[in-house]
Amino acid sequence: MVIRPMINDDTVKNNRIEIDLVLEGIYQCYGYDFRNYAHAHIKRRLDHRLSLSRMDNYLEMLHRIIHNEEFFNELLLDLSINVTEMFRDPEFYKSVRESLIPYLQTYPFLKVWHAGCSAGQEVYSMAILMHEEKIIDKTQIYATDFNELILSKAREGIYPVELMKQYTKNYQTAGGKASFAGYYRADYDHVLINQSLKEKILFTYHNLVTDGVFGEMNVIFCRNVLIYFNQELQNRVLKLFYESLIPGGFLCLGSKESLKFSECSPLFEPVSLSQKIYRKKR
Ligand SMILES: C[S@@+](CC[C@H](N)C(=O)[O-])C[C@H]1O[C@@H](n2cnc3c(N)ncnc32)[C@H](O)[C@@H]1O
Repeated sequence: MVIRPMINDDTVKNNRIEIDLVLEGIYQCYGYDFRNYAHAHIKRRLDHRLSLSRMDNYLEMLHRIIHNEEFFNELLLDLSINVTEMFRDPEFYKSVRESLIPYLQTYPFLKVWHAGCSAGQEVYSMAILMHEEKIIDKTQIYATDFNELILSKAREGIYPVELMKQYTKNYQTAGGKASFAGYYRADYDHVLINQSLKEKILFTYHNLVTDGVFGEMNVIFCRNVLIYFNQELQNRVLKLFYESLIPGGFLCLGSKESLKFSECSPLFEPVSLSQKIYRKKR
């Protein structure tokens, strides 16, 4: 029989207070505001770093954060969760081809924003799709993240070759029209995304919590980012997206995200409820 230590209400309350102090310390020292991220997510990530660093409690961690920037940078990677892949959720890309592209083809010029772009796989996937649908030449893609380290990886566009099998499968399921291998160059154990795809993309820093509107977008992709925010922060960021879109612009969220419980819900109409594609009302 496994005997688990008793966790009483006081322990839970005290942990919460200590975690809030850690987040306040991060904000005061480094300006990153995690105070409205989902508590369960933050606790999981802090606990993970606590056990790796062999520290006893959150207050010891707070001291280390304040006095050791290198440690904070490691923690920032833990907190930002950069999991991504090319043509992730292939059905979503299929739906973009079928329900979004016909609208986008009618505009003379397009501005697209990938918010929370991680290491760039989602952005390059969309650039490939837009190339195949013949709209890439009139498109400027902005890809942003608040993690500089991950942004430099995105700019490089270099990925381990062993991931290509899964990415190729995703590409084909997503309705890819060419040979996926034509979009990169293999070099030993890595692949390098084609320069021609990079030319239309500007990777740059933007923090969704502390920075402002990113204007006049035709489409915003923000997938698998809002799940880490609490409801209040989700509302704030969705308002930022609303204000950053042209009337009739599109917002695409991740498979576990939706506008359902958000204050912005009446301002959008669904294009595909199952694929979380919405359109700003005119
Ligand atoms: C799980 S990844 C999602 C990547 C990609 N959109 C996808 O769906 O595959 C979440 C990304 O959001 C970024 N992120 C988290 N909080 C952010 C914030 N406040 N501002 C900008 N980016 C943020 C993280 O750094 C991370 O790269």
